[in-house]
Amino acid sequence: MNKNIILIGFMGVGKGTIARALVKQSDYFAIDTDDLIQSLENKKVKEIFDTYGEPYFRDLEKKCALWCEKNVVKSIISTGGGFYKQPNIKEIGTVIYLKSTFENIIQGLKDAPNSAKKFKKRPLLNDLVEAEKLYNQRVKEYETIADITVDVSDFNEEKAVNNILKAIK
Ligand code: S3P
Repeated sequence: MNKNIILIGFMGVGKGTIARALVKQSDYFAIDTDDLIQSLENKKVKEIFDTYGEPYFRDLEKKCALWCEKNVVKSIISTGGGFYKQPNIKEIGTVIYLKSTFENIIQGLKDAPNSAKKFKKRPLLNDLVEAEKLYNQRVKEYETIADITVDVSDFNEEKAVNNILKAIK
């Protein structure tokens, strides 16, 4: 494997966790678009949304996507759930969609040890009715944009990593 790998998918599906597991199987590094944006602004994503609003955050995602395309190599890039909309995403690397059902994602977040924190840091998960609508809007788009779709609804991290490695060989 040589190209960057970009993990897309809905909030809480486990993009960061799977990115960190994937780098253990290679000499790649893991980076996360939300982390890059947070360090650029010196603010958490929630603070950016609260202070400047969502459109400002989306502009930062665009800047991040353009920077990744020009500067990032040999990396597993986990992304925020809306990053898949960046028009240059395919120029950054191979796009892998981590797919799960809305119910499983929310259940996984509820069962996590630091569950309250995981909900609190995600402004678009404040209202679960709205979040489900967003999921339903995005689910087809994720699949359409992706080069590869990997089902992670069973929370089996090892299986997901093996499936990704097999798919990108
Ligand atoms: C968002 C997902 C979040 C973060 C922001 C917006 C989205 O990242 O980028 O709150 O639009 O789905 P995670 O997918 O890591 O939660």
